[in-house]
Amino acid sequence: MTTATLDMPTKPKPATNPTPAGRAVPKPETLDRIILTGFMGSGKTTAGTLLADRLGWRFLDLDHEIEARDGRTVPQIFAEHGEAHFRHLESFTLASLLGQRRVVIALGGGAPEELGNRLLLEQTPHTAVVYLSANFDTLAARCAAQATDPSATARPNLADLNLAERRFRLRRPHYERIAAHTIHTTDLSLDQTVDAVLSAIRQPKSPR
Ligand code: S3P
Repeated sequence: MTTATLDMPTKPKPATNPTPAGRAVPKPETLDRIILTGFMGSGKTTAGTLLADRLGWRFLDLDHEIEARDGRTVPQIFAEHGEAHFRHLESFTLASLLGQRRVVIALGGGAPEELGNRLLLEQTPHTAVVYLSANFDTLAARCAAQATDPSATARPNLADLNLAERRFRLRRPHYERIAAHTIHTTDLSLDQTVDAVLSAIRQPKSPR
């Protein structure tokens, strides 16, 4: 495994920009956690796994943690207890994961809808939230491609595409607001996305 350090500048800047209304940016050398946020299909899990590998950190996927603790899959939790119950488990699990250090955490696409989660992320020190953005058609196409993989977990909130697009529009300001950096992933490969995240978090910026 290659371990990248956080304090060395890398190659030319790819498609990154600091989120205008985003939170204060922690200094790269004090960073303990990188949180990936974004809608379903934004690549949080795949890019997060690679990013953690490049940093020599641990990768945690919030949905997988919920499933491991609950013993049921996300679609089963939705079907048996409804989305509100899933959101409760999600908040509880997120709070418990944020105590860990040297970790990349991929949130579920809906986690930033909850005010409590947003406040928690904002108030957790030494933590950079990075938004992996893409347009809705790209996200929907990526999810459709993943759905052909029998080992992939189904996404209950993608069953109705019109509703999913409405959720996307409602959530986008939340993603932007909690993130210190936004990476526009529509035209990026997985490797380029990870390079862009590393480049973004290594740029020291003054807190807003
Ligand atoms: C959801 C996104 C999923 C998962 C659940 C609900 C959502 O995570 O948490 O199916 O409401 O957007 P991914 O974004 O990792 O697919």
